[in-house]
Amino acid sequence: MSTRPGSPAPSTPAPGKLPLPELLDMKRRGDPIVMITAYDAPAARIADEAGVELILVGDTAAMVMLGHDSTIPVTLDEMIFLTRAVTRSARRPLVVGDLPFGTYEVSDEQAVASAIRMLKEGGADVVKLEGAGRMVDRVRAISGSNIGVIGHIGLTPQSATKLGGFKAQGRTAHAAKRLYDDALALEEAGAFAIVLEAVPAAVAERVSQALRIPTIGIGAGSGTDGQVLVWHDLLGMYPGRTPRFVKRYAEIAAEIGDAVAAYASDVRSGAFPEEKHTYGISAGELAEFEAALRKR
Ligand code: KIV
Repeated sequence: MSTRPGSPAPSTPAPGKLPLPELLDMKRRGDPIVMITAYDAPAARIADEAGVELILVGDTAAMVMLGHDSTIPVTLDEMIFLTRAVTRSARRPLVVGDLPFGTYEVSDEQAVASAIRMLKEGGADVVKLEGAGRMVDRVRAISGSNIGVIGHIGLTPQSATKLGGFKAQGRTAHAAKRLYDDALALEEAGAFAIVLEAVPAAVAERVSQALRIPTIGIGAGSGTDGQVLVWHDLLGMYPGRTPRFVKRYAEIAAEIGDAVAAYASDVRSGAFPEEKHTYGISAGELAEFEAALRKR
């Protein structure tokens, strides 16, 4: 990307954008950090106006937007397409582009290349990836390329099959210790925050206390530095069973269903459209139009 005089350097945040270090200050002050997922421009605008700090264009898009039954199939191109829609509308929140399965595991070079595409083509501010172990090196490589990166440990949906399903993690002393060590390793590698998904509240709290960077919990209790929920879960827009950690703040799917059924019924009965929904034409123009038709 070339930097012309007067245009901001690539790493300069857009005016009004939340500065990333503010998240560390929020942790120090004990101010909870709010993250929510969004996958399109209207949702991003609503989240921005609601004052959230972080919008995650999560690979949950595979399920809630694209109709897959897991997050595995979504591609980087699809994630960039959705991220672009979100970044057109989100002004203040930092937009986190989720790196989908298969776009960072192979090598550090692959991870950095995917992260760069997410920023250049998707307009994301930072990226997120799942896992520890070898993924710690991916975090180091991305962060070392001056791209902000969020880690994600605990229940990592991209490896749900290996984990034995969508199950809470870190529930034995051994697993909790591993989770703790993974979090410290991700921090050391340069992650600026870590999502903790489906881990016992007491473990998440202990991990959060040990880290300088913020933790964002989903199903991790109230001892994390922030919370994240999936848009469709909190709004009641995704059919089927919701995980126990979800609080539904609305039943939007039911409301939309009622609205669409009412529209269909109005069309069938002739109740819609009414006079007020139509455009008029002056009597003179109409008469001329009808005269022209008669001449044909
Ligand atoms: O993809 C996603 O939406 C996520 C959240 C569940 C944290 O990773």
